[in-house]
Amino acid sequence: MRRIVVFGRTAHASAELRLDDIPSSGGRLDVLLRCLRAGMLVSHGLRRDVVFYLVLGGPERRACALRIEGTSAQFIRPDERSLAATVQKALAAVTDTGLSFKPVKPGLAVSAAGADAVFADLPRGRAYVLDEGGDDIRREPFEGDEATFFVGDHLGFDPDTRARLDALGTRRISVGPQSIHAEDAIAVLSNELDRRAFEVAAPEAQRGQRA
Ligand SMILES: C[S@@+](CC[C@H](N)C(=O)[O-])C[C@H]1O[C@@H](n2cnc3c(N)ncnc32)[C@H](O)[C@@H]1O
Repeated sequence: MRRIVVFGRTAHASAELRLDDIPSSGGRLDVLLRCLRAGMLVSHGLRRDVVFYLVLGGPERRACALRIEGTSAQFIRPDERSLAATVQKALAAVTDTGLSFKPVKPGLAVSAAGADAVFADLPRGRAYVLDEGGDDIRREPFEGDEATFFVGDHLGFDPDTRARLDALGTRRISVGPQSIHAEDAIAVLSNELDRRAFEVAAPEAQRGQRA
């Protein structure tokens, strides 16, 4: 299972979102929605082997977190408005459940404990921080199966989150030398992982195509 966590520093954890103005009414929730699309959706389908977490750490009294599980999620559409409506429904259902996630509908769950809920939910194992200054994933030995990937929003990671990720022993990896948008970094990462998975699954076919 591939797990992707995006930390939204300004995204509002509030259901009072205007679907015709997602960036300002949602505190740049649009950035997180594009990340979700990039990491979770393929052409005409959903990546069933991905669990996606969004941390909405905006200015409200509480931060919230959403969990979308590819194995069981339904009606996850590629356009930002539909994704925003899904997030809005989840936020409207949030109650204090401690560190656990409350199911909202199949494959979608919400927690009022923000990043704490995500860290409590993640299994132990390989964890990487996407970072433009990290080890190049094309040059370094890198295993993407059963791994967690942490991604910053348009502002990057806040110092506390950075320190927390360092304390977890995460490794910083880069998908290229240029600082790119978070959703693009996730798209490139997904492509790199897809290439490796296809290479392992059908090495003969890959070699044949190149000949
Ligand atoms: C727009 S960037 C944040 C830039 C922000 N000014 C900073 O210094 O962190 C958003 C996120 O995308 C990811 N990212 C951007 N470019 C990347 C790259 N070349 N390799 C790996 N991750 C990248 C990182 O997780 C980053 O926090």
